[in-house]
Amino acid sequence: MRAERPTFFRRRSQSVAVIEKRKLLVTSKQDLSKLRGTPPSYAWPTVRTYHVTTFGCQMNEHDSERMKGMLESLGYMEAESQDQADLILFNTCSIRENADNRLTAYLGHAKRIKREHPDRIVGVGGCWAQSIKEEVFARFPFVDVAFGPGQVHKLAEFLTSDSITAQGFFEFEGFTGRLPAKRAREFQGWVQISVGCNSVCAYCIVPSTRGREVSRDPGELVSEVRRIADDGVREVTLLGQNVNSYGRDLPGDERASFAELLARVDAIDGIDRIRYTSPHPKDMREDVIRAHAELPALCEHIPLPLQSGSSAVLKRMRRTYTRERYLDRVAMIREHVPDCALTTDVIVGFPGESDADFAQTLTLAEDVAYDGAFTFIYSPRRGTEAATLPDQIPHELKVERLERLVEVIQRRARERAQRFVGRTVEVLVEGPSRTDPSRLRGRSRHNKVVNFTGLGAVGELVQVEVTRATSQTLSGHESILSRAAV
Ligand code: 5AD
Ligand code: SF4
Repeated sequence: MRAERPTFFRRRSQSVAVIEKRKLLVTSKQDLSKLRGTPPSYAWPTVRTYHVTTFGCQMNEHDSERMKGMLESLGYMEAESQDQADLILFNTCSIRENADNRLTAYLGHAKRIKREHPDRIVGVGGCWAQSIKEEVFARFPFVDVAFGPGQVHKLAEFLTSDSITAQGFFEFEGFTGRLPAKRAREFQGWVQISVGCNSVCAYCIVPSTRGREVSRDPGELVSEVRRIADDGVREVTLLGQNVNSYGRDLPGDERASFAELLARVDAIDGIDRIRYTSPHPKDMREDVIRAHAELPALCEHIPLPLQSGSSAVLKRMRRTYTRERYLDRVAMIREHVPDCALTTDVIVGFPGESDADFAQTLTLAEDVAYDGAFTFIYSPRRGTEAATLPDQIPHELKVERLERLVEVIQRRARERAQRFVGRTVEVLVEGPSRTDPSRLRGRSRHNKVVNFTGLGAVGELVQVEVTRATSQTLSGHESILSRAAV
């Protein structure tokens, strides 16, 4: 199904002369080679450069990788900073207010650059751009181009098109997944399995920005993972707003469930680890949970967004599960994969959340003992149902609740992490430790950050003996025995 929404637009007031110049100068790689023989005034004086700043979620990180891959295939090179870039891009998020504030500060910097160098192009993409659409240009008149999430391929069209005048002509019709990706790390890749979301969570802006859920063809996804595995990717993260409703919109003969997709990805040579984000508890079925016990590459980590521990709040959030049903899912996970790491997302201060509702969230967090959690202060987003609900909670009360929740989450996570002390865990080496560059840093299959002493190379899987565990990180040393055996 297609979401027929205009999602890509250009500042109307931009002068035709400037557009004409760009049309000549911003070209595809192929056109660049044609231009080599043309007079210097038609070619870029130097290689064009870009800089992308990313806000928000992993989906945005993923879109940014696609953006970078696309720009490089168009002959652009990445600049180290905004100041050095011909094309300054922002991939925005509107989930949380503080991302907006940071964005405004960054845009202020881009404005100063643009004032000094009017030929530079400033582009704003992602959910926030989508949510305010043309207002981007009213509020930030120096912005040249704006586009919605998942519209990276349209950015390519903007940069290469012969006709870039059609405001509102860009509609959703594809996936960024089909563009070449520039991966931040050679050994880790992200693959978008679906876009959009069919849920209508009252606080969430995604349904209005990303539209209804559309799944990608499983055969195409398997080929893509095979391709990136051949390129050296050994850990793949499957992305979607609700990964476990994957496939339901596909025609009967092409349909694959999320569990089936996981099995097909698991069978690909070279893929040692599979992760995914995020499932919806209402769609978390036994087949996916069993897959964690049965598929060797599927990591022992399930992110299971709770949002609230109160059934009354969940109902007003339109989450379509109750506290009891959520706890049933947790019990099923613990039954089939007892050691599985469980993480979550929680929102405090949803409109009308009473002290008793919040106490239910605290007791649930206490009982489940998550391995980690993203905790959010409810922030009203324009155009969402919850923004219009009565009984908005005062900010100070939200902050107080957040602090109380974080205390429970961290204490329980620290306690639960002690199960790793004395164990040897497999770690995918990501680079030097952030706090002590003489040590290494990586991630365990349970998605714990592990800081350790050892000889592992970046991208290598090593065995680490864990000697200490905090709520968020493990520390230890590489197992000499396992290294000697290599
Ligand atoms: N306010 C606070 N948190 C939110 N989230 C989504 N929308 C909002 C909002 N309006 C959180 C949810 C979601 C995570 C990605 O962001 O917990 O799971
Ligand atoms: Fe938003 Fe709910 Fe869809 Fe997640 S499931 S993207 S919170 S509407």
